[in-house]
Formats: sequence, C-alpha cells, structure tokens
Amino acid sequence: MREVKFTDTTLRDAHQSLLATRMRTSEMVPVLEDMDAIGYNAFEMWGGATFDSCLRYLDEDPWERIRIIRKHVKNTKLQMLLRGQNILGYSNYPDDVLELFVERAVKNGIDVIRVFDALNDPRNLQKSIEFGKRYGAHVQGAISYTTSPVHTVEKYLEFAKSLVDMGVDSICIKDMAGLLTAPMAYKMVKELKKNFSLPVEVHSHFTTGLADAAYYAAIEAGADIIDTATSALAYGTSQPAVEPFFAMLSDMKNVKVDLDIDRIGFVNEHFVHVREAHKDTDVSMKTVNTEVLKSQVPGGMLSNLVNQLKAQNALDKFSEVMKEMAKVRKELGYPPLVTPTSQVVGVQAVLNVLSGERYKIITNETKKYVKGMYGRPPAPIDEEIMKKVLGDEKPIEVRPADMLKPVLDKLKKEIGVLAKDDEDLLSYALFPQVAKKFLEKKYVARIKVDFDIADENMDEFPEVTVYPA
Ligand code: CO
Repeated sequence: MREVKFTDTTLRDAHQSLLATRMRTSEMVPVLEDMDAIGYNAFEMWGGATFDSCLRYLDEDPWERIRIIRKHVKNTKLQMLLRGQNILGYSNYPDDVLELFVERAVKNGIDVIRVFDALNDPRNLQKSIEFGKRYGAHVQGAISYTTSPVHTVEKYLEFAKSLVDMGVDSICIKDMAGLLTAPMAYKMVKELKKNFSLPVEVHSHFTTGLADAAYYAAIEAGADIIDTATSALAYGTSQPAVEPFFAMLSDMKNVKVDLDIDRIGFVNEHFVHVREAHKDTDVSMKTVNTEVLKSQVPGGMLSNLVNQLKAQNALDKFSEVMKEMAKVRKELGYPPLVTPTSQVVGVQAVLNVLSGERYKIITNETKKYVKGMYGRPPAPIDEEIMKKVLGDEKPIEVRPADMLKPVLDKLKKEIGVLAKDDEDLLSYALFPQVAKKFLEKKYVARIKVDFDIADENMDEFPEVTVYPA
C-alpha cells in the first residue's frame, strides 16, 4: 500500500489567499508543536507574499519568522515558495541576490524550496535550482498550470523533463487559478509518474470548485502528496481542506494515510479564532467563482479590473475589456494570467480599449515582456504586435537575468549601517522602500530605547537622529 502525504498550506497560501496574507507569527506559535505532531509532509510557511506582507503591514522580520517556526517544528519539513529569478518580488533579480537569498533561507531553516516561473521558462529556474541544491535544500520544480491552445500535456511533460534535467528532487503541478480538472489531473500525474521516478505533488485552489475532484483523480493516478489547509482556512480561493481528504483516503483500498485527525481538530479550533480576528481583511468569497473557467481571468484580477475601470469612469467598457484581454493574451503568446504576466496583459488590454486604438499606448511592462525580459512566452508573439512594440529592436535571446549585473555591493553601500546582516540586506534588495522603513523602526527605534541604558550603542548609529522612530 502506498502512503499519500499532505503538505499543509495554512501558514502561507491559505491566509495569503483568504486573509490578504495578514497572519502574524504570534498567531501561529501557540499551535506549532501540535501541528508538528500531526504527521504532515511539510508546512508551506514562507515565501510567496508573506515576506512583503511581514515588512509592509506586520512590522515583522520575515527572517525571524523562519527561525521562530523552526524552533517549534522539529519533525515536519519547512517549505517555501520561490518565484524563480523573481525571488519574492515581481521582476527578475541578478544572480548574486538570488544566491545569497537561497543560502540564507536554507541556513535559517527552510528544508524544501518550491520554485516556479509563470512562463515555465526553464532558464528562469536554472539558477534557483542550482543554488537550492548547492545549499542543501530539497528543490521542488513546479509546473505553472494554465489552459490555452498551446498548453498541452505534451508541452507540460517537455517542461517537466527540463526540470528533471536541471536536478529537481520532486515535481509539483501548481494550479494557481483552480483550472485543473479531474481528467487533466489524472492524465498529467499518470504521465509524470510514468516518465520520471520522482515524487509528484499537486497544488490547487478551490476557487472554481474543481480542486477536490482533481486531487482525488490525482491520487488515483499515483500522486504522492497533495496540498491542503486546515478547514478553518480552506476552500474559496484557498486550498481544499485536509479533514475531508483524510476521510476519503481512509476509505480507499490501495492507499494509506497517516495523520493524527484528533489533533487536526484541536489545531483547527485555533485557526477558527485566528480567522475571526482577521475579519477586516477576509477577502474570501462565500461560494465558488466559475467566471474564470470561461474567461481565464482569476478572481483577484477581475476585482482589480473593475476597480480600475470604475476609477476611469468606464465600467460600461467591462465586457469589451474582457474580450480585449483574451485577444492580447493570444497575441502575447498565451502567458498564464498570474503575477507578473497578468499585469502585463491586464493593463495593456485596458489601455487598448480606453485609448480608442489598440497598442496606441504601450506600457513599459509590455515592452519588457515583448523584448523577452520576463522569459520566453509559451507561444510565439504575434509578429505585427512585436513590430509595433519593439520597432527595429530585436528581442533578447539569452536568459533574462544574464542582462543583469551584480548589485549586492552597491546595495550594501546604499543601506549602510541599517543592514546589520545579510538578511537585512536581502530584505532591502527585494523591497527597498518598505524594508528601509522597517529597518529604521527595527534598529533606530530600538536604539533610542537602548540609548538610555548604554551610550556606546550610539557609536554604531551616528545618523540616529535623522531617522524618525
Ligand atoms: Co497557491
């Protein structure tokens, strides 16, 4: 009998999807040791938007979060989500930043790095995988799943092969928008298991209502791990809940599941209260959203679009923009509508409609995308559009990050004494303005308190007075 394992996303994707990523470390700590005893394969607990959110909204050091969780979690693997060469930001970073980031993440306690690229361009993942392996992480290569005429099972397998060739330790089918149907899940997992001898994990969102069936089909086809959240923070735009899957798998003849279900109940009670405490940012929808199945446009992007059009007093153009979005996506080679390519397509489509002439105004992002700075699109870009956007310029042929020079030395000089260690420097490299404000609060505010106790601390911070606490 083979065992099916569970990765719990409660500490990362679940609250990112439902509570605008606002869960605090202090809200996790009380149940970490119980969670650790449940028998999960891993906790997805870092990366994605959590880093930005810690600095921007929570006044928390994201690096400290890993160390605190690690202190309480002795048995379960700690997993993070890395956006490939984008690290945790929205555009490519040079290799020196990526290498230091991966090294520090592993040194602080991360075991598993799940790495993905929105365009499934292997070149955007090459260095993340290399550095992850070098510093001793389990590197999981994710296939970004979307649907389009060019996203075929064969294409996904080709991409999976390149992940395997680059040395990943496992493969994930990562379905951000909840588009994966049960038959597709079955087919993809079957093929991945047939072609590669690596563990296969499936990550979906319940957004459209498809994920439960997709997981079941994936398990039937031989998936090793599924991603779930505790029921208090499951469904809607989050992952399916763990509890029903425990019941379902317990009735399956050919698989076994080894989780402490009573302890899951206890832990879940805690998160019921945590969720209540975040009512003000609880963005969950009450039911499923099936719009995305027709339009490919994920929920978050839809509400953004509505707001944008409202601000321009152009809500009557909504259905026109939706049609234009599909057209632009096709012309740009069917990028999946996830960050960051969703912004490229979305904003360009709005401009195409509101300006009254298609591609009359071309955004910087569209230009960068067509130039190849985001990576290679799934299908070739429409030639006429390419000409319109680039003129006589040619798109780049190399790995996008090869165009970027090392920046760490320059950043170190820029941030100066505010970065006490490499972790501070990395926070600054990723989110300069936000991190600078945070570091000022963290160190300068504290130093002012310390000042009463010990004068000598002042020597390290000669500029202390210029920073408001
Ligand atoms: Co997700």
